[in-house]
Amino acid sequence: MKTTAIIGGSGLTELDSLTISHEKEIPTPYGVPSAPCVFGDLAGQKIIFLARHGNPHRIAPHKINYRANLWALKEAGAEQIIAVAAVGGITPQMPPAKIAIPDQLIDYSYGREHSYFAEDTDAVQHIDFTAPYDEKLRQQLINSASGVAIETNGVYACTQGPRLETAAEILRLERDGCDLVGMTGMPEAALARELEIPYACCAVVANWAAGKAEGEISMDEIMQNLEQGMADTKLLLQQFFLANKD
Ligand code: HPA
Repeated sequence: MKTTAIIGGSGLTELDSLTISHEKEIPTPYGVPSAPCVFGDLAGQKIIFLARHGNPHRIAPHKINYRANLWALKEAGAEQIIAVAAVGGITPQMPPAKIAIPDQLIDYSYGREHSYFAEDTDAVQHIDFTAPYDEKLRQQLINSASGVAIETNGVYACTQGPRLETAAEILRLERDGCDLVGMTGMPEAALARELEIPYACCAVVANWAAGKAEGEISMDEIMQNLEQGMADTKLLLQQFFLANKD
C-alpha cells in the first residue's frame, strides 16, 4: 500500500488508534508546518499524521501554512493524503455527524499562499484541477466504509473564516451547488495536486450551516457532533487500512 498521510482537522488533533514510532519536525523552504509529522502504525499500515491546526489546536484556518504542511508531508514520504475536515452541512443529505467524501469543490477563500508557483522566477505550471480529489482514493474510502453511513459525493465550499457564514452567504453557496462548507479545504487540495500527491477529503459535518437550523450555531453543538463524527471517521480509517492492505 502507498504510504498514507492523514491530515487531522478540528476534532482530530491526535489519532488514539495510532501506534506512534516517532515524531519529526520537518523544516521547509516555505516555513514551519503546523506541527511535527507523527510516524506510526494504524491497522498494520505505516502512516504519517499531521495536525492541521497544530497540537494543541491553535492555528486559525486562514493562518495555516498550507504550503509548509504539504511540503513536509511530501518530504516525509507521503504517497497519498486523506484530509479529515470539519464542515457545516448545507443540503438536506448533510446533517450533523454525517461523513461525506466530496467529489468537487469551490474556493471562496482569499489572500492565502495558494501555490508553489508563486515566484516570478518559477516556470509556472497550470495543474489540471477538473476533478480536485483523487477518484481512486475516494473510491477506496467509500468502499471500505462498512457500518458507517457516508455520502459518496458532495461539493465542498471553502470559505475564509475564521467567522462562520451569514445565512445569505449560505444561500448563495447553495445556489452555487455547494453541499458542505469548511475553511481549510483550499489551498490544501490544490497544493497536493501541484506536488502530485493523490488527495481525498473525509468531511465530518459538525453543524447545520448558518440559517439551516433554528437559532445560532454554538461551539458546544459543534464539538458534540464532531465527537460522534470523528468516532465514525476513526472507524472508517481503520477499515480503509485493513481493506487496502497489500
Ligand atoms: N462553516 C464553515 N466551516 C465550518 C462550519 C461552518 O458552518 N462548521 C465547521 N466548519
